[in-house]
Amino acid sequence: MPTVPKSMRAAAIDRSGGPALLKIHRLAVPSVGPGEVLIEVETAGVGSWDGDIRGGWWPGDERPKFPLVLGTDGSGVVAAVGSRVRRLKVGDRVYGYSWLNPKGGFYAEYAAVKAEHAAPIPGTLDLRRAGAVPVSGLTALQGIDDALHVKRGERIIIHGAAGAVGSLAVQFAKLRGARVLATASGRDGVALVRRLGADVAVDGKHGDILAAARRFAPDGVDAVLALAGEGIAPCLDALRRPGGRVAYPNGVEPAPRKRRGIKMKSYDAAAGVREFERLTRAVDQARLKVPIGAEYPLARASDAHRRVDEHVLGKVVLRVGR
Ligand SMILES: NC(=O)c1ccc[n+]([C@@H]2O[C@H](COP(=O)([O-])OP(=O)(O)OC[C@H]3O[C@@H](n4cnc5c(N)ncnc54)[C@H](OP(=O)(O)O)[C@@H]3O)[C@@H](O)[C@H]2O)c1
Repeated sequence: MPTVPKSMRAAAIDRSGGPALLKIHRLAVPSVGPGEVLIEVETAGVGSWDGDIRGGWWPGDERPKFPLVLGTDGSGVVAAVGSRVRRLKVGDRVYGYSWLNPKGGFYAEYAAVKAEHAAPIPGTLDLRRAGAVPVSGLTALQGIDDALHVKRGERIIIHGAAGAVGSLAVQFAKLRGARVLATASGRDGVALVRRLGADVAVDGKHGDILAAARRFAPDGVDAVLALAGEGIAPCLDALRRPGGRVAYPNGVEPAPRKRRGIKMKSYDAAAGVREFERLTRAVDQARLKVPIGAEYPLARASDAHRRVDEHVLGKVVLRVGR
């Protein structure tokens, strides 16, 4: 049985502000509640919203307590389980997603999360890639399945497809049997989404999305998953009317504007036992490729925050474990 130390290294902030405030702290390892698991973190995901939280944006009701450990998702090995936890055990390799966790985030050697917010990693992924998946994978799969209800043979546009969510959404849409037009940023982004299985790929910043979409679906596309707000207008112009559907995760800016004859839905990624089971099944069925665009050691979390705002293919991660 591994022993859990009393203190740990964590990348945390003492107040809101720029990336340079993210520094290594020595903090107490979080306590494990009866329904929680303690994860010895191997890899932590870095999302653009982490930078927003670092900068002072806090969507929860209660103000955060400092020092604040950021990081909403990641992977690692279960180091301890609460008295009520049956589904997971010490030594399990898990991935997890916990939004505004009062026990602190994944930018740390240990993270305590509700047991239902973690699950065994998919068999087709190693721990590092699994750490890049939770929030992006849940967002991608729930966009395709629950928000858009994509059906076999439908023609859809994924806008912003070379990013963390989009690179996984392309593969889940193909898994569901859709035809996919992916818009991406840059030649490297276009090449990536082609490799990931997009039927048609367009540079969403410099290409003619509408012309490509008209060729792709002369009667209009069935649905759009918007993972970027910039440049979304031609994607919406390409929808069939009436009946075209649009979904976007909250946080996409500027949010797509409502249009007559189009159903529009915004959503948040949900974590839970069933959500993770479904994600794991889809990851394995798709033999998901998980692009990691940049990786930093925990001590360079500030650099990871600078990088996440630049052009990145796939996900930015922190390597926490040795
Ligand atoms: N509510 C939730 O539960 C939830 C969960 C996850 C994510 N989100 C939100 O979902 C969005 C996507 O997240 P993410 O992690 O995938 O972000 P990301 O990695 O930054 O992906 C966005 C992608 O869109 C690209 N892009 C920007 N403008 C474009 C254009 N005109 N044409 C084509 N591509 C364009 C970006 O490229 P460049 O970087 O080169 O500009 C980037 O590759 C974010 O707004 C995030 O806040 C919400």
